[in-house]
Amino acid sequence: MPNGILPVMFTGFDPGLPLERARTIPNTWYASAEVAAAEREAVFARTWQLVGRAEQVAAPGAFLTADIAGEPVLVVRGEDGVLRAFFNVCRHRAAPIKTESCGQAAKLRCHYHGWTYDLAGKLRGTPEFDGVEEFPKEGNGLVPMAVAEWGPFGFVHLTQPAEPLADFLRPLPGWVESRGGFGNLTWKARRTYDLACNWKVYVDNYLDGGYHVNTVHPALAGVLDYREYKTVCDGKTVVQSAPLKPAEGDAGRTRTGDLAAYWWVYPNLMLNLYSGVMDTNLVLPLGPDRCRVVFDFYFAAGTPDDFVRESVAVADQVQAEDVGVCEEVQRGLNSRSYTTGRFSVKRENGGYYFHQRLGRALLGSGGSLGG
Ligand code: FES
Ligand SMILES: [Fe+2]
Repeated sequence: MPNGILPVMFTGFDPGLPLERARTIPNTWYASAEVAAAEREAVFARTWQLVGRAEQVAAPGAFLTADIAGEPVLVVRGEDGVLRAFFNVCRHRAAPIKTESCGQAAKLRCHYHGWTYDLAGKLRGTPEFDGVEEFPKEGNGLVPMAVAEWGPFGFVHLTQPAEPLADFLRPLPGWVESRGGFGNLTWKARRTYDLACNWKVYVDNYLDGGYHVNTVHPALAGVLDYREYKTVCDGKTVVQSAPLKPAEGDAGRTRTGDLAAYWWVYPNLMLNLYSGVMDTNLVLPLGPDRCRVVFDFYFAAGTPDDFVRESVAVADQVQAEDVGVCEEVQRGLNSRSYTTGRFSVKRENGGYYFHQRLGRALLGSGGSLGG
């Protein structure tokens, strides 16, 4: 499907309305294979996507693989120290070159018929392929894509990026710098959750400006100063923040410092930051009504193991609460009784900002909103 063109039945959304008069994207956008295909093209192939951790590909020969909205990706550090990314698709018969999630390799050997590529993606070995005409090895290397690092993260871009990663993420990198950078945060754990809902339901839930915190997350509500909770939309980000207040229990013990900051980066990445504690949530569409959310947990170096366990357990509890409402919402969106909803002007500016960005990408007027 060409970029920015949806069948007319899906165009029932006006991203130009002010928040006071705005409606959500229609329920059909949460269930349709056509919209999911349009998103792969106009959203996921047109944005920088978190692909893994920089430390996984720090040494020459280290590689990692990922799936970005159905595209197989291979990221590898060359012998020259340069980080490269390729489509993880062999030029012979399209098998994946690497099937492990990460590892170490001297060369990239396809496991199907044994073609080999060097770490820079050049085709080197083609067993039993003599006599094939008009087949220059130089023109048959792995197909590259853009890759960039920021802090502990690696990102890729499936098509030619419109802007460098640092600009795409703005103003997040400047904010992180102003708070002292990532410092000594170290990756400790990963949790993966599969949800029976469209990926946008999960993002909507994240971006509701704290609207559901008191009702759905009683423990989290105890540590956040809800009256001071605020949402700022800027560039391709939305940041929600609130001062922390002292509280009893696991949440109070593991969520400390002056501020909780919840950063969303269009379209599917979240970074949740507390003092000495950070987790990232990457929302991966698996189909119109299924998604996977990958949590990676980082802690300040030297954080005791029992604190790590307790902190991950707090996040796991919050996630269980979110999964419950997200799956309920998906069922409601499928109801013949519901088409669109309205936004709280006080709370839900972030959610509408997401719908505007997404709507403009899908309806074809590009990403002109706020940079
Ligand atoms: S598909 Fe890779 S060598 Fe045949
Ligand atoms: Fe939540």
